[in-house]
Amino acid sequence: MTPDNDALPAWHAWLEGGAGDEVTLRDNEAAWQDLRLRPRVLHSLAGSQLRTTLGDRALPHPLFMAPMAHQAALHPQGESASALAAAALGAGYVLSCQASTPLEDIARLVLADSGRGPLWFQLHWLGSRNATLALIQRAAAAGFEAAVLTLDAPVQGFRDRERASGFVLPAGVSSVNLTDRPVPTSLSALLAQAPTWHDLAWLTQHSPLPVWAKGILHPGDAVLAAEHGASGLIVSNHGARQLDTVLATAQALPDIVAANAGRLPLVVDGGVRRGTDVLKALALGADAVMLGRPLARALATDGAQGVARALRQLVDELHIALALCGLTQPGQARSAHLAGDLFAPKSAAAFVNAKNSRLE
Ligand SMILES: Cc1cc2nc3c(=O)[nH]c(=O)nc-3n(C[C@H](O)[C@H](O)[C@H](O)COP(=O)(O)O)c2cc1C
Repeated sequence: MTPDNDALPAWHAWLEGGAGDEVTLRDNEAAWQDLRLRPRVLHSLAGSQLRTTLGDRALPHPLFMAPMAHQAALHPQGESASALAAAALGAGYVLSCQASTPLEDIARLVLADSGRGPLWFQLHWLGSRNATLALIQRAAAAGFEAAVLTLDAPVQGFRDRERASGFVLPAGVSSVNLTDRPVPTSLSALLAQAPTWHDLAWLTQHSPLPVWAKGILHPGDAVLAAEHGASGLIVSNHGARQLDTVLATAQALPDIVAANAGRLPLVVDGGVRRGTDVLKALALGADAVMLGRPLARALATDGAQGVARALRQLVDELHIALALCGLTQPGQARSAHLAGDLFAPKSAAAFVNAKNSRLE
């Protein structure tokens, strides 16, 4: 850790840090930056707009705020501030199950806003089928539109920067939506509770909400998620906070798009920082994009106003980038708007074996 980092508050290391040596943390941003746009000119730009669809849901634009735990550690108004700002800007909002605000309060705050984006609820596997389903039922009763099951965190990754900082949650900040349950006393006991594809199938059959699978990096898992009832895919490496040296999400996306073959709607996150990054994600085949740290940073700096300003800039950057590529709406972005074949996807047929070999 550099002397400069030593001067920063511990929450900074919690927010900004990643797993291990942070190789993937750097790669996530660099992979979007390394893609080159290939614009077209003299296309009519009349009727230019950002509306799009995600499955059967109309979106004002393809941006979401990713689920992030404990936002009251960043700003006194925590999730209330970020959810209000996202709704006001038409962005989707995913409330983390480790939020510091009751989920019903967030639903009451934003559901009446007719211009808002989707309101989703993210959760981890809660140790048993019934406990996990009960929390989804509670979110459904409150008015959330979908559940997001995070699949890449059966155990928390080893985060060196966060550990070195000594970060602990401030007094009064806790996961108020989770009831106390016995915490396994060993890593093996914790891992024994990790869910399997059979659990996902059970959950999707019983859930009152569509269940999105978050944390897909392998095309074979994209196929399996669809086969086990997921309603959508979130290509994510958890913002590089789980397993270091996994591939960047921009690198994972093309093969997953090919394997998915349009079956499920698809969202990507990780290292997206600019409107041009969003456009590249759409060109590679994502339907929408989530942002984490940039919006959390804005929350920490300036609460709801900060989040709203950051989203406004991203929306404007995306609109201008689309126009400068000769496009009038997000759904028109294609891989032809990217130069070269840096991440050329394999054909869908290449994943038949990936699928069959996956359950080892
Ligand atoms: C401080 C912090 C807390 C997070 N908490 C959660 C969480 O509770 N559940 C989850 O599925 N992902 C969580 N994530 C991961 C984000 O949902 C998202 O995948 C990631 O931040 C996207 O990468 P980016 O930060 O580079 O935009 C968290 C990320 C950060 C930075």
